[in-house]
Amino acid sequence: MILVTGAGGKTGAAVLKALVARGAIVRALVRSNSYRAALNAIGVHDIVVGEMDDPHAWSQAVAGTNAVYHICPNMSPHELPFARALVAAAVTHGVRRLVYHSVLHPQIEAMPHHWAKLRVEEMLFSSGLEVTILQPAAYMQNSLAEWDRMVGVGADGGRPFRREL
Ligand SMILES: NC(=O)c1ccc[n+]([C@@H]2O[C@H](COP(=O)([O-])OP(=O)(O)OC[C@H]3O[C@@H](n4cnc5c(N)ncnc54)[C@H](OP(=O)(O)O)[C@@H]3O)[C@@H](O)[C@H]2O)c1
Repeated sequence: MILVTGAGGKTGAAVLKALVARGAIVRALVRSNSYRAALNAIGVHDIVVGEMDDPHAWSQAVAGTNAVYHICPNMSPHELPFARALVAAAVTHGVRRLVYHSVLHPQIEAMPHHWAKLRVEEMLFSSGLEVTILQPAAYMQNSLAEWDRMVGVGADGGRPFRREL
């Protein structure tokens, strides 16, 4: 069984959909029951509700799993303590494998949410778990919030970049 954390968010939903499509047995860790219906709709029924700073929630979430796909809440100041709590529970419960959803260029200190992911990556090297670290670039979907402005006046506030066909 694979636990997916941050499962109420857009990344978690996408990862779960992909795993369910491959026939994987999955469990979701979410922060509240409000995500239950949406998860059920994509075929996820094993759901643990809990906060990532709660060791009891981590124990409940990882018990009986053999792998975790960890997605920390976006721009969380608690990235490292959340990951430490997860690793502690994973080691206690004999979880073998951990996939960490990091970010492209975590070594940029001027971006605290990137820098925190580098600290997590460093901590994972000595966790004793089989670790896979993914470093995704900014999602294309991020552009949607600024789409109208970009196609209207241009991403640089100057020339529109949509060419006439
Ligand atoms: N967006 C990008 O372009 C991009 C690119 C590369 C990597 N990433 C990384 O992808 C990860 C996920 O991003 P996302 O945008 O999918 O996240 P998101 O949509 O913000 O989802 C985060 C989820 O975590 C939950 N959460 C918040 N605090 C929690 C807590 N204390 N305990 C348990 N759950 C909690 C949130 O629940 P509530 O909403 O109920 O608070 C939400 O459902 C982040 O680590 C981000 O750095 C993002």
